[in-house]
Amino acid sequence: MTSPHNDVQPVAEPGTGYVRKGDGVPRVDGRAKVTGQARYAAEHLADGMIFGVVVNSTIAKGRIATLQLDAARAVPGVVEILSHLNRPRMRKLDLFYKDMTAPAGSPFKPFHSDGILYSGQPIALVLADSFEAARYAASLVRVQYVQEEHETHLLSHLERSHKPSRLKAGFSPPPDETGDAQAAFDAAPMQVSAEYYAGVEHHNPMEMHASTVLWGEDGHLTVYDKSQSSQNSRWMVSHVFGIPKHRLTVKNPFVGGAFGSGLRPQYNLILAVMAALHLKRSVRVVLTRQQMFTFGHRPETWQRVQLAARADGTLAAVLHEAIAETARIEDYVEVVVNWSGQLYKCDNVKLGYRLVALDHYSPIDMRAPGAAHGIHALEVAMDELSYAVGMDPLALRLHNYSERDEAQDLPYSTKELRACYEQGAARFGWSQRPMAPRSMREGHELIGWGMATGQWDAMQMFARAHAELHADGRLVVGSAATDIGTGTYTVMAQIAADAMGLQLEDVVFRLGDSTLPVAPIEGGSSHVATVGSAVEGVCEKLQKKLFALARRLDDLPFAKARFADVQFREGSMVLQGGPGGSCAISLQQLLARAGETRVETKYLMLPNILKQKKYVRATHSAVFCEVRVDEDFGTVRVTRVVSAVAAGRIMNPQLARSQIMGGVVWGISQALHEETHADHRLGRFMNHSLAEYHVAVQADVHDIDVLFVEEDDRIVSRLGAKGVGEIGMVGVAAAVTNAIYHATGRRIRSTPMTPDKVMTPGMGWEARDSAVGIGVGLDPRSVAR
Ligand code: MOS
Repeated sequence: MTSPHNDVQPVAEPGTGYVRKGDGVPRVDGRAKVTGQARYAAEHLADGMIFGVVVNSTIAKGRIATLQLDAARAVPGVVEILSHLNRPRMRKLDLFYKDMTAPAGSPFKPFHSDGILYSGQPIALVLADSFEAARYAASLVRVQYVQEEHETHLLSHLERSHKPSRLKAGFSPPPDETGDAQAAFDAAPMQVSAEYYAGVEHHNPMEMHASTVLWGEDGHLTVYDKSQSSQNSRWMVSHVFGIPKHRLTVKNPFVGGAFGSGLRPQYNLILAVMAALHLKRSVRVVLTRQQMFTFGHRPETWQRVQLAARADGTLAAVLHEAIAETARIEDYVEVVVNWSGQLYKCDNVKLGYRLVALDHYSPIDMRAPGAAHGIHALEVAMDELSYAVGMDPLALRLHNYSERDEAQDLPYSTKELRACYEQGAARFGWSQRPMAPRSMREGHELIGWGMATGQWDAMQMFARAHAELHADGRLVVGSAATDIGTGTYTVMAQIAADAMGLQLEDVVFRLGDSTLPVAPIEGGSSHVATVGSAVEGVCEKLQKKLFALARRLDDLPFAKARFADVQFREGSMVLQGGPGGSCAISLQQLLARAGETRVETKYLMLPNILKQKKYVRATHSAVFCEVRVDEDFGTVRVTRVVSAVAAGRIMNPQLARSQIMGGVVWGISQALHEETHADHRLGRFMNHSLAEYHVAVQADVHDIDVLFVEEDDRIVSRLGAKGVGEIGMVGVAAAVTNAIYHATGRRIRSTPMTPDKVMTPGMGWEARDSAVGIGVGLDPRSVAR
């Protein structure tokens, strides 16, 4: 049967040749993916594998009274049904439940007890010798519950919001108030005060979450897990089950998208390992698309933004508060409002962020977590203010441009947002925009132009990398990084090839294996600045080792040269004009003459935190878009988007452009399509399928023009790079909202902006939410205040 250890190793096509950082290089994993050689977490097989199918709760709160399993057990092929009643031994203490993104004790504990914490909670795992038998048997499991009252409706419970506690590492609570925001607001002549609402969104990567546990002869577990960090999954499993690291390997060499859903190990991992330990066999657990809606999501969020300006458009006050949902079991936090103290210069800023615990699964990071909501509300409010002041929206932003972060009193490491505004506006033709709404029309379509700003963090974590140069000239570099479809394989190989002066096809970058040198989670758009810097660092160490070898060759002038005098290019170490003259030796020759079959080294990249702390480090964007709104049907087409991005040095413009395009598509999707609706009587998400949870498709996507402005940031990383994963979507939905207003004169303050909201004057989100009967217990006046 299939061997578990034959993961295809992506490498550039022969003939690719020498590449530099900054070259547009096609992805090295492209062929493996389109030919199906790249195998994902659910595609690994072993002899005698057992297939697990999860049964989920149908109530939101209470406990399991009885589980009726006889009919399921009678299905031919069923070998076992696990639940809280018979699960194997696991660590009991909360503290053992930890992952790298959350405080110890935070994560959900599947099958821990008979308690039901949310609708969709895994309550049983049916194990059979075929997936089909397991799935059929799972449908026969009957459950009796003792039901309790649940609360899943954020807007009905805003008044019991609380300040977040037990914060995860890296979270910054809103800074203290500067000036006197309310007094400044009240005194200013121009005021905008509005509430914004965004419903729940679920990640819908192409690849469903899955874990395959391969039971080794010696009891060693090899787990293929869909994850944004193999080491995070290993951490979780080894803590929960008390398995030492050397008996457990987690792999994720290929991941079919994740967008944050894989930042934390999901219940499929715990259940698959539980079953494998219980049966002492290989087990695979794959979630269905419907089950993809039974763990983390982007939190439902209510916001109020108050902006005040002097008559000339100078911002006098910014007040921004957000109340988001969290779970009963933990406080999920994200940075929603802090951006409002950074993006514009203002002396009076007051920010607030609170949570409401609901009977849902805990929210989890989703692409540009926090910014996707917070900057959306701020940027729509800025647009509203531009009309109040009678100023072009771009001119208003330039007028209030912040050269430094006033709240923290820090400069930016680099900030080329002004260039984004200017170049984006020029590319779009923004200067041709008429000020008044409803002034452009073509047939039955109203046309509008809108713009917004985006910002995201430029983070750097720590990472290790390993490099070995073989006698045949092949370079293998490795780090336990992840490629969730973003291009890690390609960019890391490219950075290494550039550093060592090798052809791209001679460089292999290994990732997706917990036994590789430590790397952080692939999240927060930090992988290039982090792992890329570790890769360049390990190559520099390797160069020094090779140089030391060359200096031992007495017949060559390297002996008298300094390291600074040599270059690595075209497969050789080159000395130009040193004291002993010029010379070049191929790396293969060098290893041959030194009698080495390979030269290897390791490197630990630690960010220079003391230096970085003195700066705000962020990526920026300016998004311009055109919408066409059908006046009769309220349908919106986003016909043109220009996204101008400042994200430091771009390592690979071809892949970076894909990242930004993906972000823009997601922004269009957030603006027009995506929302998971709960039936609050059941406390359950209703549209848990791609038929009813709409995402932007090909027909929703038209012209997207991406441009990168010049930026080089050596404070964020030695590469000058910042990272491009999330900045692509921030501000996109706001630009669409603002364009819809420009087209129609209707201000829509909730996403998604579905046709009912667009075509019905005065159909605000409060009215709509109760009009369609899902706002159980909601009195719109209670939140309109
Ligand atoms: Mo991203 S939400 O950091 O995967």
